[in-house]
Amino acid sequence: MTILVAGGAGYIGSHTVKELVREGFEVLVLDNFSSGRLELIGDTPSLNADLRDREALRRIFQEHEIGAVLHFASLIQVGESYVNPRKYYTHNLETSLNLLDAMLEAGTKALIFSSTAAVYGEPLETPIPESHPTRPANPYGRAKLMVEDILRDYERAHGLRSISLRYFNAAGAALDGTAGECHDPETHLIPNILLGVLGKKPRLQVFGGDFPTPDGTALRDYIHVTDLAAAHVLALKSLLAGGPGDVINLGTEIGHSVLDVIRTAEKVTGRPVPYDLGPRRQGDVAVLLASKAKAGRVLGWKPGLSSLETIVRSAWNWHRQAG
Ligand SMILES: NC(=O)c1ccc[n+]([C@@H]2O[C@H](COP(=O)([O-])OP(=O)(O)OC[C@H]3O[C@@H](n4cnc5c(N)ncnc54)[C@H](O)[C@@H]3O)[C@@H](O)[C@H]2O)c1
Repeated sequence: MTILVAGGAGYIGSHTVKELVREGFEVLVLDNFSSGRLELIGDTPSLNADLRDREALRRIFQEHEIGAVLHFASLIQVGESYVNPRKYYTHNLETSLNLLDAMLEAGTKALIFSSTAAVYGEPLETPIPESHPTRPANPYGRAKLMVEDILRDYERAHGLRSISLRYFNAAGAALDGTAGECHDPETHLIPNILLGVLGKKPRLQVFGGDFPTPDGTALRDYIHVTDLAAAHVLALKSLLAGGPGDVINLGTEIGHSVLDVIRTAEKVTGRPVPYDLGPRRQGDVAVLLASKAKAGRVLGWKPGLSSLETIVRSAWNWHRQAG
């Protein structure tokens, strides 16, 4: 039985592929390589295909005995989703619906879906439990929430069980240095700090110094990408053992401010991080922390690698050698 990993050549997908292979799963990566990179998945079998191509999907499900699917493939830039919502709704809904059609036709009924903290919008309590109201503040988050709703409907109508994992801030790199974060454009804080230190990015712009937080910068819940990957393996095992569909946060409950991250990067790299404090960005909230209680209870998951220092150190090792 093969596990199909859609978007498996991207940042989080490739780290999850490593964990799946390490756990003995037979893995097939499907990616259009729009942002994914072959070198991140080593010699794991892969197909260059697009989830918008229904015929290609049908063929892949005919030619392989696919027991479950992990779906990472998505457009991911929140800022772009404000200015071009159509692109986000069409791409992120079409890819998911096509995948579900192909799964149903082939009788594959287990799916892990990459969802996001962006489904919650402005938090009413912190850390945020999964029962918190979902009022996404941007088209990216709304499209993710729509897919979650579709997945609940597919479970009721077709018995296709899925676990939507709502990630908070994925960060860091494989401890063995074989994979790391490389988005283009890069919008995430830690790579932007480290690329700045390496002279590959301009001075860091910090968005907002007047939030109601101890140092005025936004607090976020950073989670090591290998901890995220491990949670996918646990969620997959749960579905394969007949467990129910669900929605689960992945975070640590610990908040680090932008200035905490900058100070940690200065300590790890031994170099100063030049930055300017600018205005807040549209839709950014002061504090975004996940309750991790459900992930612990349901999956037995513990984020053991997610100290800020381990995250930044692993990312620094990756960016230094990725050149
Ligand atoms: N990075 C984060 O902090 C974060 C936080 C919350 C949620 N997520 C979600 O996690 C998932 C993975 O994020 P990431 O940071 O690894 O992004 P990424 O861009 O590195 O990975 C996405 C992968 O999907 C592939 N892809 C995109 N469209 C495709 C298509 N139509 N057909 C086939 N392949 C396609 C890309 O080539 C890439 O390899 C996304 O769904 C994202 O929304 C990420």
